[in-house]
Amino acid sequence: MEVVIVKDAPAGGALVADSIAALLRRKPDALLGVATGSTPLPVYQALAAQVRAGSVDVSRARIAQLDEYVGLPPGHPESYRSVVLREVVEPLGLDEAAFLGPDGSADDVQAACEAYDRALAEAGGVDLQLLGIGTDGHIGFNEPCSSLASRTRIKTLTRQTRADNARFFDSPDQVPHHVITQGIGTILEARHLVLLATGEGKAEAVAQAVEGPVAALVPASALQLHPHVTVIVDEAAAGRL
Ligand code: GLP
Repeated sequence: MEVVIVKDAPAGGALVADSIAALLRRKPDALLGVATGSTPLPVYQALAAQVRAGSVDVSRARIAQLDEYVGLPPGHPESYRSVVLREVVEPLGLDEAAFLGPDGSADDVQAACEAYDRALAEAGGVDLQLLGIGTDGHIGFNEPCSSLASRTRIKTLTRQTRADNARFFDSPDQVPHHVITQGIGTILEARHLVLLATGEGKAEAVAQAVEGPVAALVPASALQLHPHVTVIVDEAAAGRL
């Protein structure tokens, strides 16, 4: 595991964007796994700026979603599908056809989870998976005590995660209780994992993930099992390392 400490969030975003651009120069049709939340936004902005400047061609890139709320109506602005289309797919000038994601409004959610795992495999697997980290150490929506071998499946959010994500909704009770998330086992199949964390609020989770024991109680600690992981943290998030 490589740990890189950068000055601040924009520097972290620029570094990850450079890494994605380098991948796309090697493999123009790479499958990029993207995360939601506030942390990766500087990455998408920096990458879109590189596209506008003509320094990278993303036209053949494909985008895969990490997780999704269950039960939000299709087109809800805070469904992760909407967020990824708005923050990643459209700014990069990609077509919706380049986008893969689980169906959070399916009648049979379990079948939708299995279909998504199959779709990822059929697409050749994720080349680079960008991850954020929850304050409780979750990755995707794999909350503490998730199986380290888990596949894409339905999960129930903890009170803490619902409270953390309430800022995206008009009121806290609108945050869905259930989600679909790529499992930890699914995430570990990506060829390169890049975890980005910024801000003091993530310092404890980062320290446990990077320097603590591998444990289901800290889902991000499973990254220690993967042969190609880059952890990029700003000085504030590195505060407990
Ligand atoms: C959600 C997402 C995660 C993300 C986390 C942290 O729970 N499912 O993928 O890493 O939020 O979000 P933020 O970057 O806003 O702190």
